[in-house]
Amino acid sequence: MSEFKHVAIIMDGNGRWARERLRPRIWGHVRGSTVVSDIVQTASDSGIKALTLYAFSTENWSRPKDEVSSLFKLLRKFLIKEKNRIIANNIKFKVIGEIENLPKETIALIREVESITDSSTGLNLTFAFSYGGRTEIVQAFNAFAKENPGKVMTEKSLSQYFYRPEIGDVDLMIRTGGEKRISNFLLWQMAYAELYFTDTKWPDFSPEEFQKILSEVSRRERRFGNVSVQSDLAESIEVAETNKNKKMKENTSDV
Ligand code: FPP
Repeated sequence: MSEFKHVAIIMDGNGRWARERLRPRIWGHVRGSTVVSDIVQTASDSGIKALTLYAFSTENWSRPKDEVSSLFKLLRKFLIKEKNRIIANNIKFKVIGEIENLPKETIALIREVESITDSSTGLNLTFAFSYGGRTEIVQAFNAFAKENPGKVMTEKSLSQYFYRPEIGDVDLMIRTGGEKRISNFLLWQMAYAELYFTDTKWPDFSPEEFQKILSEVSRRERRFGNVSVQSDLAESIEVAETNKNKKMKENTSDV
C-alpha cells in the first residue's frame, strides 16, 4: 500500500510524442487518454487516497480550436467509457476548474458522474480541467471575504474555500514530458510536495513506471521544514563523543 495520500500528475508530452511519430498532436492526446485509465486503476489498487490529474489548464484555452474541442471530446469519451469502472471501484470523481465555458453536454456528464459517485469512499479522483492554481486561490479569498466580512483569515479557514478542500495537500507531484515546472498547478496544495520529473512522455507513461516512482520517492525523507531525526541523532552522538574524549584527555593530563 502506498504511503502517499495525495498524488498529483501533470500529464505532459502528448503533442511531442505524436509529432515524433509524424502524427497530429491530437493523436497524442488520444493515446494519452488510454494511459489515464491505466494510471487511475493503478492508483486505486495502490491505496492512494487522492489522485489529481492536470487535464486542461486555463492557459490551454489559447490552443488551436480543434485541439481544445478534441480535449473536451476525450473527456466526454473517458467518462462514458469509464463510468461503470469508476463506480465499481468505489472511486469518487470530481472536476476542479472553471468549467462553465465547456460544452453543455460535457458539463452535464461531469455533474452526472460526480453525483453518482458522491458517496464513494475509495480513491478521490479529480480532473483539473480549465484549472489554474492562482485562480483557485483568488476565488477562495473572495469567497472567504464574502462569507466572513471583517473576520481574520487563517490558512485553515481559507483552505476550506478551495475547489475540493477534502483532498488536502499534495504529497507527491509527478510531471511527465521532461519539463521541470509546476505550471500553475495546485500552487497552495503543493507547498511541501515531493516533486518528481520524468522524461517519459505521457503516452509512454506506464503503471510500472508509476509504481517505480512511488517506491523511489517513498525512500526520500520528508522533513516539512523540520530537522532530520537521523542526522540530529548522529550530531548528538558526535558531540557526546567529542566531549567524552576531551574529558579523558583533561583527566590524563592531570595525572
Ligand atoms: C499536455 O501535453 C497535455 C495536455 C494539455 C492535455 C492532457 C490530456 C490528456 C492526457 C488526454 C485527455 C484525457 C482525458 C481523460 C481528459 P502537450 O499537448 O502540452 O504536449 P507537448 O508539451 O508535447 O506539446
